[in-house]
Amino acid sequence: MVDSIKGRINGHNCGELREENSGTEVVLCGWVNKSRDLGGIHFIDIRDKYGVTQLNFEDFKGDLSILKDCSLESVIRAKGLVRVRPDSAQNRKMETGMVELLVSEIEVMSQSDKDNIPFLPYGQVGASDDLKLKYRYLDLRTKKLQDMLKLRSQTTFKVRNVLMNEDFVEVETPMLYKSTPEGARDYIVPSRVHPSQVYALPQSPQTLKQLLMIGGTDKYFQICKCFRDEDLRSDRQPEFTQIDMEISFATPEYIKNLIEKLLAEIFGLKDGLSIPVMGFDEAMDIYGCDKPDARFELKHMKAAELFKSSEFKVFSGPANSGGLVKAIFLPESMGTMARKDIDALVEVVRPYGGKGVAWFKTQDGKRTGGVSKFITDEIYSGLDSMSPEKGNGLWMFFADMNHEVAHASADAVRRFLGNKFELHCKENVFLWINDFPLFEWSEEAGRFAARHHPFTQPKACDLEKFLNGAPGDKNGSLSECKADAYDVVCNGYELGGGSIRIYDNKIQSHMFKCLNMTDEEIDSQFGFFINALKFGVPPHGGLAFGLDRIMMILMKTEFIKDVIAFPKTNSATDMMAGSPSRPAAAQLEELHFNWNQKEKK
Ligand code: AMO
Repeated sequence: MVDSIKGRINGHNCGELREENSGTEVVLCGWVNKSRDLGGIHFIDIRDKYGVTQLNFEDFKGDLSILKDCSLESVIRAKGLVRVRPDSAQNRKMETGMVELLVSEIEVMSQSDKDNIPFLPYGQVGASDDLKLKYRYLDLRTKKLQDMLKLRSQTTFKVRNVLMNEDFVEVETPMLYKSTPEGARDYIVPSRVHPSQVYALPQSPQTLKQLLMIGGTDKYFQICKCFRDEDLRSDRQPEFTQIDMEISFATPEYIKNLIEKLLAEIFGLKDGLSIPVMGFDEAMDIYGCDKPDARFELKHMKAAELFKSSEFKVFSGPANSGGLVKAIFLPESMGTMARKDIDALVEVVRPYGGKGVAWFKTQDGKRTGGVSKFITDEIYSGLDSMSPEKGNGLWMFFADMNHEVAHASADAVRRFLGNKFELHCKENVFLWINDFPLFEWSEEAGRFAARHHPFTQPKACDLEKFLNGAPGDKNGSLSECKADAYDVVCNGYELGGGSIRIYDNKIQSHMFKCLNMTDEEIDSQFGFFINALKFGVPPHGGLAFGLDRIMMILMKTEFIKDVIAFPKTNSATDMMAGSPSRPAAAQLEELHFNWNQKEKK
């Protein structure tokens, strides 16, 4: 694209010259990508994010010794005449390969230290991930990362476009705020002005967007940073970006329609998008998780009933005492596994608490290997009738008293097999998961935690159970309550989550009590919010997307760091700037970091 605003040093970029520019004098600026001397004729390939153009020095009248300063990755300015290359020198693989610039002027604007440059940012970049993160500004010169930044910017543009056309208003909310519980630890910022007091960086703008509804904003959105101190994974960063939305008088139907419209725009789906709905319980039954990768089959089957009178105690034990026995059948048409590969599955389930994967094979009507001696005709006929796939293949079992372990182990093996045998279809597959439990029991804390967050409305049909539930009763009626919450899932990732909110102050207070908070705790942490619920509150609901996760799907990468300009490592460090870092003693003093000592005195 030609600049419409005049005044840059370069009149053209390095990817745009074509035959029709021949005969014009242009100025290009960019990095030295390659430099060569072909028997006295000198060439430099000059590169910027738009492409590469060949500079030819055959008509250069100046001092050629300047070429010695044009080390790789130096920034240069070249002026010259565009000409069509001689036939033999044309390169049809390069977009600018039909032309070259006959250089008349050359300037080294910034010389690169060629002896110390950690890596060259083009072609196959030969550098470790750590080195690339340390010199992120060099890695950012690569086409892959520049394409990502452009796509990310185009994506937020599309989001703003859709939402502004629907009359949403983008509102910025504070970064220095109070704890907003989303299930992680807070990043806190000590106050200089108020000794011993801290701000918390928002885990999300949850309470603020609800306060905007109370404040009459009606339809809010924000593309905002959120901060969570939690264990990091390949799809999690300590600071990440949400596309956050909240709408007064919204129903889950409205929110789903809105999300479908947004995703259709983001993913360029011309025929629109209608996301299939799946309840949480069904998702757990057939996929063992609430963010299933539905691009391939291999669904879980419930086999406990079949093993109740089995001699095989590993199965009959859980089957008779409220545990789970899940089964997966891998038909030969999808993939075959040798004995050693099957044995290695134990490593796949171990991180989830699984102790092993029981198995047997069916081969032309015979059952062989593993636990086959425990598979009676009756059990087998039960298994076979449950399975959509028949015939030769491998049966795998995941039995455990702890449902979480059985679900998670079977989920891990399903995903493993999906990758190993490349069972995924090409398209992205979205799911709308709803009917989540309102609470989950935390063994560690010995109390309930909100499964989504504590502002989520219990399902109308469970309100009685909610109001009458006992906070300390792990298996009581609170454990049965469902939430008016939903997640958008794609290819095994949770892209977004949201809910209809509590808008009654008594229900909100009760919710905090169910989480075992004392009146004092409720008042000091959320008193302002509960108070706001007393002065006329439109019923409201919303959802937040993880923009980074959407970008991961768009860029077809499993690593969130690939879609963020300046990401942190899995240990939450910035290798480039070296943060976190120790503050200066004076800074600590100013921030009253010696609180304890002072208070003791
Ligand atoms: P939730 O906690 O589900 O909901 O977050 C919404 C979405 O944010 C993304 N996400 C993350 N992305 C990268 N790194 C992380 N550490 C991380 N944590 C979350 C996910 C997730 O689906 N306030 C509510 C939303 C609401 O109720 O409206 C909230 O934050 O894609």
